[in-house]
Amino acid sequence: FDAVDLIHTKRDRGELTTAEIDWLIDAYTRGYVGDEQMSAMTMAIFLNGMTRREIRDLTMAMIASGERMSFEGLGKPTTDKHSTGGVGDKITLPLMPLVATFGVAVPQLSGRGLGHTGGTLDKLESIPGWRANLTNQEMFDQLRDVGGVICAAGSGLAPADGKLYALRDISGTVEAIPLIASSIMSKKIAEGTGALVLDVKFGSGAFLKDIEKSRELARTMVELGTDAGVATSALLTNMNVPLGLAIGNANEVRESVEVLAGGGPADVVELTIALAREMLALAGQPDADVEGALKDGRAMDTWRAVIRAQGGDPDAPLPVAKETHTVVAERDGVLVEQQALPFGIGAWRLGAGRARKQDPVQHAAGIDLHAKPGDTVREGQPLFTLSADEPARFERALDAVAGAYRIGDPGEPVLDGGPLIADRIG
Ligand code: URA
Repeated sequence: FDAVDLIHTKRDRGELTTAEIDWLIDAYTRGYVGDEQMSAMTMAIFLNGMTRREIRDLTMAMIASGERMSFEGLGKPTTDKHSTGGVGDKITLPLMPLVATFGVAVPQLSGRGLGHTGGTLDKLESIPGWRANLTNQEMFDQLRDVGGVICAAGSGLAPADGKLYALRDISGTVEAIPLIASSIMSKKIAEGTGALVLDVKFGSGAFLKDIEKSRELARTMVELGTDAGVATSALLTNMNVPLGLAIGNANEVRESVEVLAGGGPADVVELTIALAREMLALAGQPDADVEGALKDGRAMDTWRAVIRAQGGDPDAPLPVAKETHTVVAERDGVLVEQQALPFGIGAWRLGAGRARKQDPVQHAAGIDLHAKPGDTVREGQPLFTLSADEPARFERALDAVAGAYRIGDPGEPVLDGGPLIADRIG
């Protein structure tokens, strides 16, 4: 094959054959097809799309570029969750131990944050001693003995995706549904999970803002999973407002532990329970008492065992920032708006996120919200607190959130974008 011919085909709205897609991904992974040709191809895909068959072939070709894990020897079902990312999205932390409590193995391969959405590994690394890098054998042993694991995805899984994602990032082709779907699903299918629940976000703090685009992404990914023999379903969830009250790293761990202790903010609890039910239903336990496992401490016991198994001390104090700055309500009224994206950017500017892959994060930096949309507030009451190690960061974070929240009059509509869980697909 010739890469230029394949680019012409996609540019002129044609369809690539299975053999052409296999060749292209293999040649790109090995370096025979260069970045300049692949970026023309990704732009042609961005503009002209792909058929269901092409997306499936692309996903399978990316899986074939690396290793494929298998948990068949575990003797128990496996189930995983993937979120497309949002502000304050710490759901993996309470969800993984909650599901593992029911004897289902949860192999949660996670990433680090880039930009305004945080990464699960960054959050967990605020726990003293906890380590993200496990060998495949360590992962397998922990799944067998403890039931859950959250660790870094090794570079061996779908290496073609690593290369392609980096290229899309610098060529304006990230937001193409065939490319997003194949990127996410190649890694999840290669990971070897038997069941998968997708938390596909929509709204201002999501990576795809428009609910119809998110729905299309969810449908595409559910089809890919199902075609590959992975029991897959998706929830479409609202990311117009930050999830929970904590945005950052250590503070998100703290909030997750509250949920595991049977408390925590209502939205975090609702989504954790809904996703746990989905994961357990796909793994053959539709009647599992997930609320009971949060209330009676069983999920907390699993959390402590998982953290310990990865070198962490679940009782160690979490880091606290050197400086804080609290913003108070300037009048009596109702909080009618609190936009996710600006608060995510604010936390990022405080040091909770990174601008470049190699940057460190400051684990204690972030934002703690004291009120949620719909809450009645009094003049002088704290609305949110910024935390950072360097007070110089407060001004830029305050710039980010200026205009992103508003106190209105009682009876004014609350601009939260509707219910937390908008739809289920699968
Ligand atoms: N996350 C991924 O892993 N890939 C994408 O393309 C987008 C989000």
